[in-house]
Amino acid sequence: MKILVIHGPNLNLLGARQPEIYGTLTLADINTAIEGHAKKRGARVTVFQSNSEGAIIDTIHRYGQKESEKRHDALIINPAALTHYSIAIRDAIEGVDIPAIEVHLSDIHAREEFRRHSVIAPVCRQQIAGHGWRGYLEAMDALVDGSPPKIHP
Ligand code: DQA
Repeated sequence: MKILVIHGPNLNLLGARQPEIYGTLTLADINTAIEGHAKKRGARVTVFQSNSEGAIIDTIHRYGQKESEKRHDALIINPAALTHYSIAIRDAIEGVDIPAIEVHLSDIHAREEFRRHSVIAPVCRQQIAGHGWRGYLEAMDALVDGSPPKIHP
């Protein structure tokens, strides 16, 4: 199974950015954990981070389109702040039609009101929030195991 992992805006600052909320691991540390777990689970991962909405959409198209030789089987995405307003990313995920899981390091439901709503969740099988970096590994397990969807749009 090939899994595309996308980290959205400002996640390149992890480690230094509000460690009391997001933890002390850097994005490189998290990616190492993701890659290690993929090896254990017999999956392959392509990891991408961008601060730009357009670059994230292009990457979803590149690795998600049915005709693409690069097509991956599933997507794990932490859209970061774009979670709360990017209809364009939602449309991209829906458009390529690959199973996706949304991950957040923090518990977005226990923070500011504006973080509680995700426009992305309805096109994902599941949302994992508040489990820190381990949320990415849980998402991978759910995809590799073919766990039933927990969000029914
Ligand atoms: C986040 C939560 C978002 O609200 C925030 O904008 C982020 C990170 C998380 O992983 O907890 O940048 O997606």
